[in-house]
Amino acid sequence: MQYKVIIPAAGSGSRMGAGFNKLFLKIMNSPIIELTLKVFGEDERCNEIILPIKESEQHFFHSLNLPSFIQNKITYVKGGSERQESVFNGLVSIKDTESLILVHDGARPFVTNEVIERILVKMNEHEAVICAVPMKDTIKKVIDGVVVETIDRSTLWGIQTPQAFTYKCLMEAHQKAIENGFLGTDDASLVEWNGSKVSVVNGDYNNIKVTTKEDLFFAETIYEQYRS
Ligand code: C5P
Repeated sequence: MQYKVIIPAAGSGSRMGAGFNKLFLKIMNSPIIELTLKVFGEDERCNEIILPIKESEQHFFHSLNLPSFIQNKITYVKGGSERQESVFNGLVSIKDTESLILVHDGARPFVTNEVIERILVKMNEHEAVICAVPMKDTIKKVIDGVVVETIDRSTLWGIQTPQAFTYKCLMEAHQKAIENGFLGTDDASLVEWNGSKVSVVNGDYNNIKVTTKEDLFFAETIYEQYRS
């Protein structure tokens, strides 16, 4: 099953505190975004990578150490001020409206082919599929430093990317979200809000989103494990 992937890469990474786009940070000598692009670039099922980026960072993306067959798969588009806007800009650049669309955070370099395969298989029967892992911690709702609720953990999942959608399902949800000023932290939340069913497959605990400085330490450990 062929697909296109939108990889939003136009964030500033303020929670990382690096002072520049965290996707340029290196894990064992390779920029995070280079590792992410290689996963999809080397996947024969992926026929296009749409990369929303900041115009001011173009030179960096063009200087990544990627073989030409991967560079040739990449379509650069202008990023937006929010992740959601970056994904939307990627979506409008897609000509083939019959395409299967994956959306994947640039900051998740450890997504595996197995997770992608699970998602693609499930997409045979559904219009929206995401991957997730069961929560390990007990989750409590805390307001002003005081616990107000302990939420039943058995129903809680940590949501990851890739998230897959038919073009029609994702485009409709994004357009309605824009019309109504709805802002979600992932694409599935727009699709849920728009009334569509979102199915879940198992993700991978190693498929972390590199977000804070501590994550860089874990990222190096995971990278070492994958290489060996
Ligand atoms: O900040 P966070 O890690 O949640 O961002 C998730 C992904 O969305 C990152 O890959 C980031 O580069 C991207 N993003 C974007 N445009 C924005 C904000 C974030 O493409 N305005």
